[in-house]
Amino acid sequence: MRIDILTIFPGMFRGPFEESIVKRAVDKGLVQVFLHDIRDYASDKHRTVDDYVFGGTQGMLMKAEPLFAAVEDVQSQAPERGPIVLLTPQGRLFSQEVAAELAGHDRLILICGHYEGVDARVHEHLATDEISIGDYVLSGGELAAMVVVDAVVRQIPGALGSPLSSADDSFAHGLLEHPQYTRPADFRGMKVPEVLLSGNHAEIARWRRQQSLLRTAKRRPDLLARADLTDEERQWLLTNLPNQ
Ligand code: ADE
Repeated sequence: MRIDILTIFPGMFRGPFEESIVKRAVDKGLVQVFLHDIRDYASDKHRTVDDYVFGGTQGMLMKAEPLFAAVEDVQSQAPERGPIVLLTPQGRLFSQEVAAELAGHDRLILICGHYEGVDARVHEHLATDEISIGDYVLSGGELAAMVVVDAVVRQIPGALGSPLSSADDSFAHGLLEHPQYTRPADFRGMKVPEVLLSGNHAEIARWRRQQSLLRTAKRRPDLLARADLTDEERQWLLTNLPNQ
């Protein structure tokens, strides 16, 4: 997969992309990440990428020309085609499903917006997808792009140490992940549940599933409503949820 990121702050990506899973995936050749400075595509000597808003609102808007020029140039650098994603609080909400959908492409172009927003022609005629990482306003699309890249890259087969690890993540089955423990089995009197030490794999799997159900019901009932549960599991929850 090739990911091109268009930003006015390429330096912001250095730390996060030079550590951990993204770095490992890049080193393994599973993904290529290219950073492009939008200012390189400005047409004046001041490298201007913003301008006043027609109709008179306060603040500045990101200009259309440098963004169109940047996307066209970046597209010409490699033959693969894929979504052109604008990171904006007005986009569809990012989720594990959206990450999986994006991970299915050979190419992603991510545009990081700034200032009060981006000229509407970028939304309407350049971006093919708009994504928000949550209902809050960030100072720019960079942090959102990092979140998207991290969640997408960990879905690429081989990016994680074990092939099972991303399939086990919270949300992978529409439920939150069950609690997990490592050694010691007794830490300051806080004991690991007996069943996990039993070696009985069927019992352990059952306990984990039940813990996932309980956790999701308590913390994210909205997820539970959409999750794939058997009638038996729904019944089990009704009798095992406290205060219900
Ligand atoms: N840019 C500013 N806020 C954002 C958000 N919540 N998601 C994506 N991009 C953004």
